Amino acid sequence: MEKKYELPDLPYGYKDLEPYISEEIMTLHHDKHHAGYVNNLNMAINKYPNLFENNAEELIKNLDEIPEEIKTAVKNNAGGHVNHSIFWKIMSPNSGREPLGKLAEEIKKQFENFAGLQQKFNDEGAKIFGSGWVWLVKNKDGILQVMSTANQDNPISDGCFPILGNDVWEHAYYLQYKNVRADYLKAWWNVVNWQEAEKRFTE
Ligand SMILES: [Fe+2]
Repeated sequence: MEKKYELPDLPYGYKDLEPYISEEIMTLHHDKHHAGYVNNLNMAINKYPNLFENNAEELIKNLDEIPEEIKTAVKNNAGGHVNHSIFWKIMSPNSGREPLGKLAEEIKKQFENFAGLQQKFNDEGAKIFGSGWVWLVKNKDGILQVMSTANQDNPISDGCFPILGNDVWEHAYYLQYKNVRADYLKAWWNVVNWQEAEKRFTE
């Protein structure tokens, strides 16, 4: 049993990201949506229990090695599990509001300034048709880059390392922002955990 994938606790309270993300959204998002990905992943891997030796990142890095019968379920649900596990950590009620340290320097280099990154990231997030994620990643050459993925795909499947990611599935914002995804994308910067982002960038 202990090998099973588990839903991590939020590192803060459900209402701690208010007013930017409501308690209702955080509760449903964590307790229902993320929990659903974890349950579905466990159900899929139960058919091939030797795969429990892989953590969820390893599963989505090596999708070629997953049996055809469960490949789609693993791609979607291991992806959902990894993406949301990152997402909770890279947000915080004590955001700091500005990039720090080496990451701040690199953002200046690649995007001119923080506003340049925000603009690019928000534009990319707004463009996603249907469900997906917008990311700030370190690409294969170690360069910062903004990218998006569809559904629950994660940049690590393309050899990129995610520093920040914002969930633009409707379940992430609709109850509060309705159809105005652009407002959610703007508000989200108020809860970015820049210490965690710097940690991810330098690790
Ligand atoms: Fe989500």
